[in-house]
Formats: sequence, structure tokens, C-alpha cells
Amino acid sequence: MPPTDPGLQSVLRGWPPPVLDPAGPFAQPVTLLAWVLLLGGTVVLLVVLTALAIALWGKPALRRRLGGDRAIWTGGVGFPLVVLTALLVWGLWLTASLQADVPRSDKVAGGEMRVRVTGEMWWWRVAYLDDAGHTVIADANELHVPVGQPVLLELESADVIHSFWVPQLSGKMDMIPGRRNLLRIQADQPGTYGGQCAEYCGGPHALMGFVVIAHPPDTFARWRAARLAPSAPAAGRGAELFLASGCAACHTVRGTAANGLAGPDLSRVGSRRTLGAGILPNNRGTLAGWVADSQTLKPGNRMPNYKQLPPQDLNALAEWLESLK
Ligand code: CUA
Repeated sequence: MPPTDPGLQSVLRGWPPPVLDPAGPFAQPVTLLAWVLLLGGTVVLLVVLTALAIALWGKPALRRRLGGDRAIWTGGVGFPLVVLTALLVWGLWLTASLQADVPRSDKVAGGEMRVRVTGEMWWWRVAYLDDAGHTVIADANELHVPVGQPVLLELESADVIHSFWVPQLSGKMDMIPGRRNLLRIQADQPGTYGGQCAEYCGGPHALMGFVVIAHPPDTFARWRAARLAPSAPAAGRGAELFLASGCAACHTVRGTAANGLAGPDLSRVGSRRTLGAGILPNNRGTLAGWVADSQTLKPGNRMPNYKQLPPQDLNALAEWLESLK
């Protein structure tokens, strides 16, 4: 069901992601391939249905020709051989061309923006890397990129096979445990582009969304500078509750004692567009709701419910989380 509230719509813009509306050079050829397969498949289906109709109800002479050796050799063997071979060659060439200058080694090519995205059950760990391959910004479920510039993604998995797919920016690529797959994406216009895990990975697989936000270069530079600056989380009741309730065992908030690694980094959680990996708009209400009862919002996710927290504590916690920007 599409979101009806206009505020919600603007937050979750780009979701569900349109699959035939490319917004960059790595998605365009994939969309063309999809259209050719779709239209070609439709034409072939119509031809087959016509042949079936002739076989069932056609005049005897026509039926005889359809059942003859020539029709079988041309339509049944020659045609599929030519069409499928052509599609195979074109498809292989197309996918190879998309990967043409992607570096094969783990060496970081100087100057190219590189981000490691790790599939986790059921969210995305995002690490912006420097030229030496070290994480400089840790985030989750959201990727900021400059427009008009290719960004190289290192796709990994922490558990099972996931598949990274932001249809407007590139084809999909699997995230396989023990492997590092490289994928380039690029957005040619500023905007918000939705993504979705495209490989069944257990329980809430369908609730494993992603969002890419493409900024004009100067806005992106400002965003990056702000993210690189040390964060200064406020002290107070919310911070105390976060540490006292066990949140820090799984989550990191830089500038505090919280340094857990199992769950998403929350150092700037207040600035994220969505909660629960692309499934909810991010505000104080949804933050409180998520902490109290994430198992209803996203059944099977690995965060336990904190229903035992009294409402005023939940509110203080949500207020603090919202302030982490
Ligand atoms: Cu991750 Cu499906």
C-alpha cells in the first residue's frame, strides 16, 4: 500500500523503488536489457499462442504445415537457437561492460569514492573508506553520494547471501559470505533512490530496504565534512538510559561508552531518513515505537523489545536518539 500521509511520502520517497526508471549510466543498459527481454518475450509468447491456436482449431492444411519438418526445424530449433544465443552474447557483453574498469584487486584506486556495504540480517552496514581502505564514516541503511560521479561499492555479507539492489542506479549484485563483490553505482540527478535486498535471506527479508541520497557536489562535501567532525552527543537522562538498558552491547554511539558492533552504528541515527532499514520514517514517535516493540514492526529482527521501559523513559531515550545528528 503506498503511503498516504504527505510527510511520510516525502521521507520514504524512492520507495518502493521503480525498476524501469534508470537514473544513471550503470542502470541504463540494464533497463534496456530488461525492456528487450520483456518485449521479445511477449512477441515469442504471442507466436507460440498463435501456433497453439492453429494446432487446436486451424484448417487441416495449416495444421499439416505447422506439424511439418520444416516448421519444426525453423521454429522449434533454428529460431530459439539464434534468439537465445544472441541474447546470451549480448547479456554477457553488457554485464561485462558494466564491470569493465572495476579494479580486480582490493587495492584502492586513488581518488575514487569507495564504500563498503555489508549485508546483515536484516539491515545494511555502511562504511565510507579512505584511500587506505579504513573506515572513516560508519553508518547504516543509507548511503550518501555526490551526483554525476561513480562510486565503487564493496559488497560483503556478515551472515547469509543478500543482494544489493538500487534499481535506478545499477543492476543487482549478490553479497556473499567470505567474498567481496565490487559494483559501481552513479546517480546523475540529485534525489533519493530506494533499494531493496533482492535475495531471500530469512524472516524479514522483504523489510530490508535501503536508501541512496545523491547530493550536488558542494552539498555532498558539506555533508562529508560534517560527518567527519567528531560528534558530541548530549548528556542527560536519555544517554543514561541508553547505557543502563543494555543498548550499548549492540550499538555504537561515538563520544559515549557505547561501542557495541552487532547492530547499526547510532552515532548519527537522528539524521537518517528511515528506521528499521528503510521501513519507517525516522522521528521521535517511530524511534520510541521501535525501541519498545520492534518485533511487531519488523517481526523476527534481532533487536529485542524493550516494553518494560516506562513511557517517560522511552520518550527520553527517543528524544536523545533523535538528537544524535
Ligand atoms: Cu537480505 Cu534478503
